[in-house]
Amino acid sequence: MLFTIIFLLLLFLPSLTSSSETWIKAASWFSGGQFPVSDIDSTLFTHMAFGFAYINYRTHELYIQPADEPYMLTFTNIVQRKNPSIVTLLTILVQLPGDTNFSTFYSMATQPSHRTSFIKSSIQKARLYGFHGLDLCCVKPDTNTTKMENMGILFDDWRTAIDRESKNSTQSPLLLTLASHYLPSSYPMESIRRSFDWVHIVSYFYHLPTKENFTGAHSALYDPSSNVSTDYGIKEWISRGLPAKKIVLGLLYEGYAWTLLYPSANEIGSPATGPAVTHDGSMPYKDIKSNMGCDGEKVLYNFTYVTNYCFNGLVWIGYDDVEAIRTKVSYARENGLLENVTIPEVLVFGDSIVDQGNNNGLTDSLVKSNFPPYGKDFMGGIPTGRFCNGKTPPDRFKSQ
Ligand SMILES: *[C@@H]1O[C@H](CO)[C@@H](O)[C@H](O)[C@H]1NC(C)=O
Ligand SMILES: *[C@@H]1O[C@H](CO)[C@@H](O)[C@H](O)[C@H]1NC(C)=O
Ligand SMILES: *[C@@H]1O[C@H](CO)[C@@H](O)[C@H](O)[C@H]1NC(C)=O
Ligand SMILES: *[C@@H]1O[C@H](CO)[C@@H](O)[C@H](O)[C@H]1NC(C)=O
Ligand SMILES: *[C@@H]1O[C@H](CO)[C@@H](O)[C@H](O)[C@H]1NC(C)=O
Ligand SMILES: *[C@@H]1O[C@H](CO)[C@@H](O)[C@H](O)[C@H]1NC(C)=O
Ligand SMILES: *[C@@H]1O[C@H](CO)[C@@H](O)[C@H](O)[C@H]1NC(C)=O
Repeated sequence: MLFTIIFLLLLFLPSLTSSSETWIKAASWFSGGQFPVSDIDSTLFTHMAFGFAYINYRTHELYIQPADEPYMLTFTNIVQRKNPSIVTLLTILVQLPGDTNFSTFYSMATQPSHRTSFIKSSIQKARLYGFHGLDLCCVKPDTNTTKMENMGILFDDWRTAIDRESKNSTQSPLLLTLASHYLPSSYPMESIRRSFDWVHIVSYFYHLPTKENFTGAHSALYDPSSNVSTDYGIKEWISRGLPAKKIVLGLLYEGYAWTLLYPSANEIGSPATGPAVTHDGSMPYKDIKSNMGCDGEKVLYNFTYVTNYCFNGLVWIGYDDVEAIRTKVSYARENGLLENVTIPEVLVFGDSIVDQGNNNGLTDSLVKSNFPPYGKDFMGGIPTGRFCNGKTPPDRFKSQ
C-alpha cells in the first residue's frame, strides 16, 4: 500500500474535502526495509497497516518473527505521534513462499481447534502490540467447497470472538479486513459480508511479463477484449452481494517492464519476449520516473484500459501515473465505493527480495524483503514502500 494515492486524492479532488474526511486512506509499512516508521507522514492517512504476521504451521497460532517484534511494539505509538487518530492494522500474510496451495491456512481453517488457536492468538497479539485491527492478506479462493465452508466458519467465528472480546474490555472491537482476489469466485460471500469491516480488492497483477509474451495493462480498470479487469471484478463482487461501501480499490504503485520484440510495436498487446530491467520486470514508481526517464511527453495514457505506459527502445513499462490514478479514484467515487468507508488504497506488492539480496531463508525469517524508500521523491516527498513478499502475491493472484 502506498502513500501516493492519497496525495493524488488531495491534489486532484479538492472538491471532495468534506466527504474525503470519511474516506479511509490506508497505507502499509513493511518491517523488512530501511525506511523508518518515523518517516511516515501519518497525517495523510486514516489507517496504517503493519506487515507482517504469519500463521505458525505447527501450532496454527499467529506467528511473529522475533526480529519484527521491536517494530510492532512501537509502531502504533510512532505513527500516532503525527496523527493521534490514525488506526493501525496488523496484516497477516497467510501464504509462505513455496506454499502454493495455502496448506497452512487451510489446515488451520478446516480444523475447529486450529481455528480457535488462530483466532485467540490473533486477537491477543493484536491487543498486546497495540493494533486496532487485523487484516487477512491474500488467501485465494479454492474450488473445494469444504474448504470454502470452513473459511466461512473461520470468518464468522473470528468476528464473534472479536465482538465478544471487546465486550469484556474497555476497548472498541478490533477491525477485521480482508485482502482478496479481484474476483469473488468461490469465496464464502455471506460470511465475508458479515464478518469483515471491508475488503481490499487486489486489483492488479492481471498481466505479468514473466507470464505472457504480450505487453499488458497489469492493473487495467477496463479491458474491451476480456473480463480480466478491475471494473469486471468490482461488479462481480457487488453482484455477488458485497455492498459497494465495503469495497476498497487497490492501487498498485509499481509498474512492470517488458522487453519488446520490435521497437516499433509498442502499444498495449504488442509482442514481447519477457521481463525487462529487473528479473521479473517489477519496478517501483520512483525508478520508473527517475531511472527510466518516464516523464513529460514520454508518458502515454490509454483511457480504454486506464493505464499509463512509456517505452524506450525495447523497454516497455506499464504503470499507473497521474491520469490512471485520477481516473480510478473517480471511478471509486462514481461507483459509491467510497461512501463513508472507502479506501483508495495502494497495495504495493513488490518483488525486491531476490534482487536486493535481503533474503534470509524460509525457516525463521519467513518472508523477507527490502524496503527502500521508494518513491520518496514522488509528488513532494511522499514515501512509498514495498509490501508483501516478492514473488508469491503476483503468482497467487495472477488471473489467467
Ligand atoms: C498442497 O497441500 C497439501 C496439503 O494440504 C500438500 O500435501 C501438497 O503437497 C500441496 N501441494 C503442493 C503442490 O504444494
Ligand atoms: C476438500 O478439502 C477437505 C478439507 O481440506 C479435504 O478433506 C477433502 O479431501 C478435499 N476434497 C477434495 C475433493 O479435494
Ligand atoms: C474477561 O477478561 C478477563 C481478563 O482478561 C478474563 O479473566 C475473563 O475470563 C474474561 N471473561 C470472559 C467472559 O471472557
Ligand atoms: C465476460 O463475462 C460475461 C458474464 O459475466 C460473459 O457473458 C462474457 O462472455 C465474458 N467475456 C469474455 C470475453 O470472456
Ligand atoms: C489503447 O490500446 C489499445 C490496444 O493497443 C488500442 O487499440 C486503443 O486504441 C488504445 N486506446 C487509446 C485511447 O489510446
Ligand atoms: C516468451 O518468449 C521468450 C523468447 O521467445 C520465450 O523464451 C519464453 O518462453 C516466452 N514466454 C512465455 C510465457 O510464453
Ligand atoms: C460512517 O459510518 C459510521 C459507522 O460505520 C457512522 O458512525 C458514521 O456516522 C458514518 N459517517 C458518515 C459521514 O456517514
